[in-house]
Amino acid sequence: MMPFPTKVQIKEVGPRDGLQNEKAFIETADKIALIDTLSGTGLDYIEVTSFVHPKWIPQLADAVDVLQNIKRHKDITYAALVPNSKGLERALAAGVDEVSVFMSASEGHNKANINKSIDDTFPILQEVVEGALAAGKSVRGYISTVIACPHDGYTNPEQVVYVAEKLFAMGVSEVSLGDTIGVGVPTQVDALLTEMLKQFRPEQLAMHFHDTRGTAIANIVTSLQHGITKFDSAIGGLGGCPYAKGASGNVATEDLLYLLHEMGIETGVDLEKIKQAALRMENLLGKQLSSKLVAVARGEES
Ligand code: HMG
Ligand code: MG
Repeated sequence: MMPFPTKVQIKEVGPRDGLQNEKAFIETADKIALIDTLSGTGLDYIEVTSFVHPKWIPQLADAVDVLQNIKRHKDITYAALVPNSKGLERALAAGVDEVSVFMSASEGHNKANINKSIDDTFPILQEVVEGALAAGKSVRGYISTVIACPHDGYTNPEQVVYVAEKLFAMGVSEVSLGDTIGVGVPTQVDALLTEMLKQFRPEQLAMHFHDTRGTAIANIVTSLQHGITKFDSAIGGLGGCPYAKGASGNVATEDLLYLLHEMGIETGVDLEKIKQAALRMENLLGKQLSSKLVAVARGEES
């Protein structure tokens, strides 16, 4: 095990992973206000929306409007999910900074989520990566169901390595490994990262933990011990994939910040501002969010 890193980058995915999973459509103005607030918290990376088919994710059908109307800070990367060339066209027209392509390590979730087999997905993503790079944009690649799939059961780490090799060969600069349904535990994350780090450097990887069973923070500590320094999280603990039964929120950004800051690991993000934004989100959505720090703040107010 390596010593803990001294600095970690948080990639805020709440506006995309969070709001794609809300039953109600969040008004475009509210999405823009959330992103503008997040832009003032010290975050340097925000995934703002996705350019998937609006029939598949109606919650983010306003992707163009959102991306075009947020106040952009020059030091922040505003990224968006893009499934295919049609999505890339829309994302580039709206002025995206970084493109995130995505697929699964398992056939079952890949088919349910993007309507293709794994092998049929590679050429589609290849086209997106080439197009994005030609337009001067960097590309991130997500691999979902890296621990287990709701359809196919446990995922073999070698399958994750296989998909990651294909994505890096296309030209993605980083791969984010998603425990989409939040089933993973530290021993499994350890096995996955041990296999991945035989092929790739820690800087090439990010971890994306959903906290369905309360294991995300433990999994993050294990990842830190492997030298991983990039983590995806969502304000308030929002999140989930509508095409993965049982998937719920991402690890909450504020809970992750608490962990890291108390461990003496720098993030550059203001925990108090994130917490206040999460509390506002809770009011807007009219329901309690899963974040532990929001629960603490709620208790302090009452
Ligand atoms: P499909 O129906 O197979 O698409 O959907 P198609 O290529 O056959 O095209 C059908 C029609 O849709 C065509 O129109 C296209 O132009 C149009 P027609 O010719 O019939 O008039 N179309 C589009 N329109 C607008 N924007 C587009 C687009 N693409 C095609 N981008 C597709 C395939 C991939 C598009 C669909 O399955 C889809 O949008 N899936 C996205 C599902 C999704 O967003 N899931 C959640 C995000 S992934 C996630 O949350 C996991 C992650 O967080 C990591 C983790 O947690 O593990 C990232
Ligand atoms: Mg996710």
